Amino acid sequence: MIDKEKIQKTSSTILDLNDHADVKYSEEIINALKNRIGEMWPKIWSKMSSDNFSAFPVARFHTNQSILNFMAKEFGERLQIVELGAGFTPHFLNLDCRIGKYIEVEFKENSDLKRDIISETKGEIDNLKFISGDLAEEETWKRIEGELNLDNPVLIFSEGVVSQYFDDDLKSKISNFIKPLMSANGSIFMLDDTLRNHPEFQDNEIIKEGMNKISGVSGSSVYKNDLRNFELENLFWKKLLNMDIVNVDYMLSKPEMDFVLENFKLTINLKDEDSSITRGLKELSLQNKNIRVWK
Ligand SMILES: C[S@@+](CC[C@H](N)C(=O)[O-])C[C@H]1O[C@@H](n2cnc3c(N)ncnc32)[C@H](O)[C@@H]1O
Repeated sequence: MIDKEKIQKTSSTILDLNDHADVKYSEEIINALKNRIGEMWPKIWSKMSSDNFSAFPVARFHTNQSILNFMAKEFGERLQIVELGAGFTPHFLNLDCRIGKYIEVEFKENSDLKRDIISETKGEIDNLKFISGDLAEEETWKRIEGELNLDNPVLIFSEGVVSQYFDDDLKSKISNFIKPLMSANGSIFMLDDTLRNHPEFQDNEIIKEGMNKISGVSGSSVYKNDLRNFELENLFWKKLLNMDIVNVDYMLSKPEMDFVLENFKLTINLKDEDSSITRGLKELSLQNKNIRVWK
């Protein structure tokens, strides 16, 4: 069971992006957050990761961003993107070209704060929408559906949310909401990789320390205890969504974490009638192996 209050405070990727990666708008978002939260900042917002674990959010942000930009170039204004549990990530602001619509879904407290911060930083943006609500509730998904044109491709993705904190029942529940939104060719449901999918690393001291810290901060027992290897997890999604799956290699990040990140891959469930997206994703995957994002 997710501790909602605690998990909301886990959206601290933006701190890692600012410290360890050149991501546009990360500094502006952090300054705006500090201004709003004021003296409470150090009490409720701290870096979730141990030093080495910062490699994970940095690598996954850039890897996901490369897919978003690939899809944006492919479909332009026809593309609609839905970011689940968006926290304070600046994915939308880092898109290379204009798309049809970008929808961020979050619990109300984070969603309202993010909307205010973006409008303060960038002004009103006509193709960016914020939906506040619980991803476990049907009502939230009805509102998402209401924003979408299902004749055009829909890219739904989760970064640091579903793979880490949702148990099988919750995954199965959201797959029933996701499936009907994937009718147009080019639609994608993309999941990041997680140590939950890699029991082979659980005995490593760096991994043990980092996982203990994250499960402590998030209040989630699922992340640390509910493990299944990557191939079986892919089969699980295949069974739920009945879509083709393409895996895309992560970019590398902090060198000390190469032993894990070299094995991390996105799981991309997709509808791709002429295989053109699949070919593009496989090319990206090959390029990613040679990219390191870390400062
Ligand atoms: C670890 S953070 C990741 C945030 C962001 N995606 C990132 O990469 O930095 C998990 C986020 O998911 C949100 N979240 C978790 N469960 C949720 C749910 N059931 N409905 C809506 N948002 C949820 C939390 O509020 C939090 O912002």
